[in-house]
Amino acid sequence: MIEVVAGESLDTANADVLVVPVLSELTWGPGAEWAVAALGDWVEGYLSAQEFTGKARQMATVPGGDAVAFGRVVFVGLGDEVDAEGLRRAAGSVGRAVSKYATVVTTLHQLEIDDAAECVAFGFIAGQYRFDKYLSDPKPAKTEALELAGADASAMDAAQRGTTLAAGVALARDLVNEPASAKPPTHLAAVAEEIGADTGLAVTVYDEAACVEERFGGLLGVAAGATNPPRMVVLRHEPEGAEASVVLVGKGIVFDSGGLSLKPPAAMETMKTDMSGAAAVFGAMQAIARLDVPVNVTAIAPLTENMPGGSALRPGDVLRARNGKTIEVLNTDAEGRLVLADGLSLAVEEDPDLIVDIATLTGACKVALGASIGGLFGNDDYAISAVTAAAARAGENVWPLPLEKEYGSLIESPIADVKNIGGRFGGAITAGLFLAHFVDDVPWVHLDIAGPARADKAEHYIPKGATGFGVRTMVALVQDLARS
Ligand code: BES
Ligand code: ZN
Ligand code: ZN
Repeated sequence: MIEVVAGESLDTANADVLVVPVLSELTWGPGAEWAVAALGDWVEGYLSAQEFTGKARQMATVPGGDAVAFGRVVFVGLGDEVDAEGLRRAAGSVGRAVSKYATVVTTLHQLEIDDAAECVAFGFIAGQYRFDKYLSDPKPAKTEALELAGADASAMDAAQRGTTLAAGVALARDLVNEPASAKPPTHLAAVAEEIGADTGLAVTVYDEAACVEERFGGLLGVAAGATNPPRMVVLRHEPEGAEASVVLVGKGIVFDSGGLSLKPPAAMETMKTDMSGAAAVFGAMQAIARLDVPVNVTAIAPLTENMPGGSALRPGDVLRARNGKTIEVLNTDAEGRLVLADGLSLAVEEDPDLIVDIATLTGACKVALGASIGGLFGNDDYAISAVTAAAARAGENVWPLPLEKEYGSLIESPIADVKNIGGRFGGAITAGLFLAHFVDDVPWVHLDIAGPARADKAEHYIPKGATGFGVRTMVALVQDLARS
């Protein structure tokens, strides 16, 4: 387990690695000039010969030799304009590059950016994340300590926030990377209870009988074809004196086979990740509790598998959701919106200031925005701008899509209040319009993370596989609500 600690100044520090920043055209960042002076004149020529100019995320390593008390010095490029996300990414690339060394000293947090130490701690730890529990020969990162040279108390507070965020993101990634067979709804509910025991969050788990009692018709409909029973999980953070309130709702399909509207094999390969919304909500709640953010936050996670068993939901069936609305199910693969119908209905009953749902909801959103951008929808301009601003501050990429009222006719059903598919075009939008049926007039934002919940390749602080997307946006949003 890596620790982020306050380090001595460079004159007295020692470690396996020293990491210093360089901006474009070999403009030395904090500590780099010191390193070059200590190492000797040859370094500048050596870096140039390696075509290292300080472009974003370029890296060059030189041996420390007898000149410095570091085994090696890593120069990391930050480009022209350093911002928080550039710093996170640089720290992430460095974290990956130096993972075989035990002790790392850096000056990256000395760059003049708000919360620099938070970005450095987060990026470095998130970059070293690995999911290796099923490998016979795992090669875990060996870094034990990241020392922030000369860091003061406020930098260390920021670093602690970054560490807490990275832990929330790692929790979400672990849950998403876990194979579906190892994470039935009962298991994820137990994980929620552990998070509660660990952080003081209050946890309520509705078992199958309670789901019937509570009329979670959408969740029960999707669960009908699965052998593993569903669960509805609610976590609560209720700090004393808090005024603002928000409910976070996460889609928790532990495996999406499509149900009787079965997916083709290739489309199923990644469907253990269809509970990324629920995982993000769990990770965010852990961080919100540990950071003790003074806002009332409730998290709701409807958890089930979507399987084509003999008692499965059929196309043409009609379900009644928690809020009483009836749904004609024409495609059982549009199941996320069915379980969210209950989750959102429950959220409305809390009468919060704001509801945010997060879901790997539609392939259409991934087609529209590509794999690294989340779709953002909402029924309230203030709520939309609050979540957009939080995502920007957190360094998560989202883009607004419209809840076009005219398309509402696409999900009209002749026999029920609404149907669960809206035809070939605008699939992310018709899914959003469907969800709008279950939020009444509570300010609400819907995040479709079908793209960014997982990555095909590792890059800076993002590993291949589960990304933990959404954790940081939700934490930032709740922090912003505490300030406003
Ligand atoms: N879980 C999928 C959406 C998805 C697709 C997430 C690709 C991540 C990557 C969702 O339940 C689904 O199957 N949606 C259907 C909806 C359609 C039947 C209206 C889709 O997107 O094709
Ligand atoms: Zn589906
Ligand atoms: Zn799904």
